[in-house]
Amino acid sequence: MAVLKALGGTSDILAPESRTWQRLENEARQVLELYGYEEIRTPLIEEAAVFTRSLGEAAEIVTKQMYLFQDRGGRSVALRPEGTASVVRAFIEHGLDKTAGLSRLYYLGPMFRAERPQAGRRRQFHQLGVEMFGSASPYQDVEVIALLMEMLRELGVKVAGGPGDEKAAVLKLNHLGCLKCRPEWLKNLKEYFKERLGVLCEDCKVRFRTNPLRILDCKKERCHNIARERIAPSHRLCDSCRRHADQVKETLWPKDDSCETSSKRKVYFDWDNWLVRGLDYYTGTVFEVIHTGLGEKAQSAIAAGGRYDDLVREMGGVATPAVGFAVGLERILMVQEKAAPSLAPPGSAEVFVATFSSQEIPQGMELARDLRTGKISSIANLEDRPLKRQFEQADKLGVRFTLILGPDELKDGFVTVKEMATGQQRQVPKGDLLQELRRGVKGE
Ligand code: HAM
Repeated sequence: MAVLKALGGTSDILAPESRTWQRLENEARQVLELYGYEEIRTPLIEEAAVFTRSLGEAAEIVTKQMYLFQDRGGRSVALRPEGTASVVRAFIEHGLDKTAGLSRLYYLGPMFRAERPQAGRRRQFHQLGVEMFGSASPYQDVEVIALLMEMLRELGVKVAGGPGDEKAAVLKLNHLGCLKCRPEWLKNLKEYFKERLGVLCEDCKVRFRTNPLRILDCKKERCHNIARERIAPSHRLCDSCRRHADQVKETLWPKDDSCETSSKRKVYFDWDNWLVRGLDYYTGTVFEVIHTGLGEKAQSAIAAGGRYDDLVREMGGVATPAVGFAVGLERILMVQEKAAPSLAPPGSAEVFVATFSSQEIPQGMELARDLRTGKISSIANLEDRPLKRQFEQADKLGVRFTLILGPDELKDGFVTVKEMATGQQRQVPKGDLLQELRRGVKGE
């Protein structure tokens, strides 16, 4: 019988990698909570319209990558390819759009896109996303971006502090205009590309009909050059969009360097007039964080986001400005300089309880149970096997201490404690054991 395997582009995460993931997630949660964000968990499966309406019928994610199927009741459903649309659906469904307050939400979990799998591009991948609702202020864009960059640093990613910083994460920034100024720009853009339609690639010919803005983003050299001859989108901004963009730029990287505190909060960015995003819902500020460590350009974004001030209204809610981003966690693991100290995976348990013979196994189990009650993670030997084999297992587990229980220990009420790093052994009265181990394990 053929052996069953995980589907291409999906992976099992086993220990110790699963520990690295837990720590990555915990670290990220801590930063998010410091910024006052609260977790939202939405279903992995949604009515397909949640995505087609928000990402755009013509968006590549919808046309080529969405896992779309009919459920048993004949409804058209999809596995979520991203988080923003589901969060907006939930935001409206639970009436948060009617509360007129600010909502700071985050999510963490798997997303699904039927892409051709390769390094950094998976069919099931994990995003950590942030969505902030209720503020149109440019300072809100800055706060969200600053949170993203701080989180990347906390997760052990080197962040560029200025131009030419090698192998570091660089923030690319642009402004796409609003509902007032974008239609005019799009009209001009369409006229410009219409005259050059014959020389554009086949994909761009389709984009010309469906989403001409995406031609600016085409990776093919000819389309790229044609697009670059065109006046950049941000040159077409209305006064209010221009002010917004200037305020974001000036706050991220103040020109006035005289004040010492400003250098601490400065966020370096690279303005990119041709940065457009593959999803229809964006308006105003858009950004991507690129890392050369990922190699090929197409997969080089470790995070991306922007404003989507019209999406809540478009999905049937009360108009609410919003801004957010998502980080690709697989890609973070690929570019981490070093695991942040707290990300270093420890062994799964801190203590292994070995027994001289099978006679002492029940007392060993009881000792391990007592230690767990005292919040020390412990694994007890349950097999009839020589001490040597048990030490080998303790080594493999990476525990800090191995405790040995034998007839002498049981008779005289002590435990032999072996510190694995030094190999030193000492006898500790049972009554002092918990305290001693706490001191050794947790530094208490
Ligand atoms: P996105 O650019 O489609 O944006 O995805 C965000 C990040 O998810 C990417 O920068 C990348 O790191 C990661 N990612 C995307 N596809 C894959 C894949 N197939 N394999 C591995 N990693 C991947 C969004 O999803 C928006 N919802 C972001 C957002 C939130 N905008 C506003 N709020």
